[in-house]
Amino acid sequence: MSLREISKVTGSREIAENTFESTLHAPQIAAMIKAGQFINILPSGDWPKVMRRPMSVSGTEGGNLSIIYKVVGDGTEYMRSWENGVEVDIIGPLGNYWEDFDKIPIIIGGGVGIAPIFFLHNTLKSKNLDHYMIMGSRTADEHFIEHDPDSKILMTTDDGSYGIKGNVVAAVDTIAEKQDLSDTKLFVCGPAPMMEAMKDYALDKNIECDIALETVMACGIGICQGCSMEYVPKEQKASSYREKYGLVCMDGPIFKANEIKTCYL
Ligand SMILES: Cc1cc2nc3c(=O)[nH]c(=O)nc-3n(C[C@H](O)[C@H](O)[C@H](O)COP(=O)(O)OP(=O)(O)OC[C@H]3O[C@@H](n4cnc5c(N)ncnc54)[C@H](O)[C@@H]3O)c2cc1C
Ligand code: FES
Repeated sequence: MSLREISKVTGSREIAENTFESTLHAPQIAAMIKAGQFINILPSGDWPKVMRRPMSVSGTEGGNLSIIYKVVGDGTEYMRSWENGVEVDIIGPLGNYWEDFDKIPIIIGGGVGIAPIFFLHNTLKSKNLDHYMIMGSRTADEHFIEHDPDSKILMTTDDGSYGIKGNVVAAVDTIAEKQDLSDTKLFVCGPAPMMEAMKDYALDKNIECDIALETVMACGIGICQGCSMEYVPKEQKASSYREKYGLVCMDGPIFKANEIKTCYL
């Protein structure tokens, strides 16, 4: 069940280069939301645009929920300047959530995809479930978590300025040196090229993999059809529209790697 709640900002801070974390007091949604789900935000009371802005939740504490975002346009520009106590109209929880942790999770985030992965990390920790966490970025400035291989926390940077040099695939390869990947399952959220690379890697090595897609969204509740994704065809015969296309807001955002035709949406 999703609901609309008028939340109150309880904090906002820059945690890495152009990366902000805001916390909202929203006790009803915070009590229900699970790792992988998102909220749809009206950034301000006088928001002049039609559409809300979808954001994954990065964690909950008490009646508060947090989001982590990069400033890319007007909505996120509003969010980073939120003052404590400001009321923010949100709808949630929306979408499906990460589940099925029978195999050892390798959870992988990059760019704006770190939020749902960070929530998943804390969810697995609270259940005492052994797992690996990988976060990828271009440079050290974008990281806010310590590279700590002994705790199975791996940071990567494209330029080698922090953690493992290379992209997140390089980090999975270091795990593969010690761990049979067929005993693991990948959980991925990040920029489209990263998700596409992990999808190909998982399919090639026959590893289970769930991917959280982030498309441009409008309504967030299955009405506008603006967030469609294409499934890998199951059979050669013509299938119905709903068998061919899913809605990221309703059927996702999390899909199995082997059912997604492309992560470039
Ligand atoms: C389910 C879901 C969860 C999300 N979670 C997060 C999150 O945790 N943190 C975060 O920073 N962002 C997240 N996003 C993306 C975020 O909603 C958009 O970037 C949002 O449009 C920003 O609003 P804005 O008004 O600042 O920028 P806009 O003016 O809307 O957009 C600025 C630029 O970003 C592009 N853009 C918009 N949406 C996306 C998108 N989904 N992917 C790639 N480019 C886009 C636009 O085309 C435009 O060029 C999520 C999106 C979805 C669908
Ligand atoms: S965003 Fe409108 S149907 Fe998904």
